[in-house]
Amino acid sequence: MTVGSVLVTGGTGYIGSFTALALIEADYKVVIVDNLYNSSEEVINRIELITGKRPPFYKVDITDEAGLDKVFSEHPDIDNVIHFAALKAVGESGEIPLEYYRVNVYGSICLLRSMEKHNVTNIVFSSSATVYGDATRFENMIPIPEHCPIGPTNTYGHTKSAVETIITDQIQAKRNLATKAGKSGEEWNAALLRYFNPAGSHPSGIMGEDPQGVPYNLLPLLAQVAIGKREKLLVFGDDYASKDGTAIRDYIHVLDLAKGHLVALNYLRDHHPGVRAWNLGTGRGSTVFEMIKAFSKAVGRDLPYQVVERRQGDVLDLTANPSLANKELGWKAERTLEDACEDLWHWTENNPQGYRQDPPKEFVER
Ligand code: NAD
Ligand code: WQD
Repeated sequence: MTVGSVLVTGGTGYIGSFTALALIEADYKVVIVDNLYNSSEEVINRIELITGKRPPFYKVDITDEAGLDKVFSEHPDIDNVIHFAALKAVGESGEIPLEYYRVNVYGSICLLRSMEKHNVTNIVFSSSATVYGDATRFENMIPIPEHCPIGPTNTYGHTKSAVETIITDQIQAKRNLATKAGKSGEEWNAALLRYFNPAGSHPSGIMGEDPQGVPYNLLPLLAQVAIGKREKLLVFGDDYASKDGTAIRDYIHVLDLAKGHLVALNYLRDHHPGVRAWNLGTGRGSTVFEMIKAFSKAVGRDLPYQVVERRQGDVLDLTANPSLANKELGWKAERTLEDACEDLWHWTENNPQGYRQDPPKEFVER
């Protein structure tokens, strides 16, 4: 018995694949669309290996409204969407802003239009902590609560905050229309999930992050150093006002993040709140040096690094205040940084070529 059906856009990507897994394990039917720009179809095999269920997969671009229409038509039972498909490289977004607006903003409009046509009324959106920009510009906003003013400082962040606004306006418009027609309109709901820094992989060692091309995030880069693909990690600045001089982030295990999507979707379905924004983070900040130490411990040896200049656009501290999600969703990040590091290393050792290789013949839960 399924509890509902969910279209997961970007579902072969890092966070999308783990969310698909969590949904299937919670007895949702999952349909995945992705254009495989930054992921591999092998993910579908791995999901099947872990769950015993194979989600239908469609190679569709998020800006292809007719393609999305076809998927909804073939699966008329879909009543929810979790929307991950996007471009996500902060640096690149400043170089090719139009492409970021096309995929992230126009793509979301195509999705919302297609949902409207097929009367799909619940959407969970992958937003980002990046919408807050530098929260240290305010007093008492670290750890960052949802009421911290939005103020992205890069194009990627602008696209995320634009989509938050578009979704909010669309849900409000549909609710207003329904009210005018004497109905409640309460079926129209959206969750804006602002994630902090996702980390880790599946404890089985067969699912993890597999960025195509050169990664730019700390943990995939550290993993490349550990596996010998990169000589050393460059630490971007040790002159921040933190305990060891390096910048502070809130690293959340991807399994906890995936569970956050599941509970947010359940909340929309049970409570019909309209539009709600929730931070998904741990509430604990870690410095870059602490991360190097934690990952080195998981690997069993010291990993080489070199301190260089600060990276442009980086901020001192992005730590979440997750108490709203704790309270309203009954959700709390449960896994530790050590879990994330051990799982990441297990995945890296097992799959040095990521998804571009067969899964290990036998896999054992850690
Ligand atoms: P990812 O790149 O692994 O996943 C995104 C997926 O979207 C990929 O599978 C990619 O192939 C797909 N995609 C890209 N362009 C597409 C298009 N035009 N049509 C269809 N599919 C397309 O990234 P992720 O880390 O899993 O991120 C998922 C979502 O979460 C994104 O929206 C991202 O902006 C957001 N997010 C990520 C982070 C992070 O640090 N990883 C933090 C906050 C928010
Ligand atoms: C983490 C820390 C770096 C690489 C980005 C986006 C954010 C969200 C998550 C999508 C920082 C330091 C990194 C390296 C380093 N993504 N670092 N050497 O910048 O916190 O957040 O990804 O929504 O929007 O901005 O993540 O992993 O790049 O960096 O010293 O080679 O590691 O300076 O302090 P970031 P990150």
